[in-house]
Amino acid sequence: MSTDYALTNAWERAQRRLKGLEAAYDPTTRRRLSALGLAPGWACLEAGAGGGSIARWLGEQVGPSGRVSAVDLDVSGLRDLPANVEVRQADVRVDPLPEGAFDVVHARLLLNHLPERDEVLGRLVAALRPGGWLLLEEGDMFSSGVIDEDPDHARAMRTCRDLLATAADVDYGRKLPRLAVSRGLTEIGVECEVPFAEGGSLGTEWLALTFDQLAERAGGDILDPETVWRWKEKLARPGSWFASLGVVAVRGRRPVV
Ligand SMILES: C[S@@+](CC[C@H](N)C(=O)[O-])C[C@H]1O[C@@H](n2cnc3c(N)ncnc32)[C@H](O)[C@@H]1O
Repeated sequence: MSTDYALTNAWERAQRRLKGLEAAYDPTTRRRLSALGLAPGWACLEAGAGGGSIARWLGEQVGPSGRVSAVDLDVSGLRDLPANVEVRQADVRVDPLPEGAFDVVHARLLLNHLPERDEVLGRLVAALRPGGWLLLEEGDMFSSGVIDEDPDHARAMRTCRDLLATAADVDYGRKLPRLAVSRGLTEIGVECEVPFAEGGSLGTEWLALTFDQLAERAGGDILDPETVWRWKEKLARPGSWFASLGVVAVRGRRPVV
């Protein structure tokens, strides 16, 4: 089984990269989770919990009578979490997950990286109690290099897409509605977003760090250095806005039989 997760948390700047990702996507994720009716006492699974911001927020929302299981291959970012958040180092592809146990199961930017994504989706659905909600938010790079007004940003985003395509399904998000239907989920809802981040923010720093990590993985200069230098200089400038990675969000409920 491949363990080659392209954007590994073992990279020396990975924790900063995860903070940027959270800054870009947490506001919409929190809104989507709240819309499911998240309440004190709920049991939650945060799969591929990364830097831990959503696990922390879920812990605060469900309170002392609820619980959160935060699972990741690499738990180095899962620190200083509320007492009701249990951190578990596990591989969602092979390690056992409790079945029928959770009111909500959430994964963001996880399955698109895993060749075994279909089996893992089945395991996440099985982890839901009857009536529980699955919320998946997965990357789809349909807009990368297309929606961008700035030509350097467009080139950099196209390069990221090409590099990531060697290790992940960069068109995965659009498949989620069909997959949710095929897994028997009900009350399905679908959204698609392309967040824009302002220059000089954590959100644009995330784009630059993602580029750097992919470039290092590919072994060097993947775009001419002058373009990269100019692009990063623009990304650091407040007052300009840059399209980030597109995400498709699908929610669905395990039927009560
Ligand atoms: C792109 S990051 C997203 C982190 C977090 N979900 C977020 O959106 O802020 C993907 C995360 O999935 C974790 N991951 C990758 N493969 C995994 C696996 N097989 N089992 C568990 N976690 C995994 C990585 O370690 C990383 O923390």
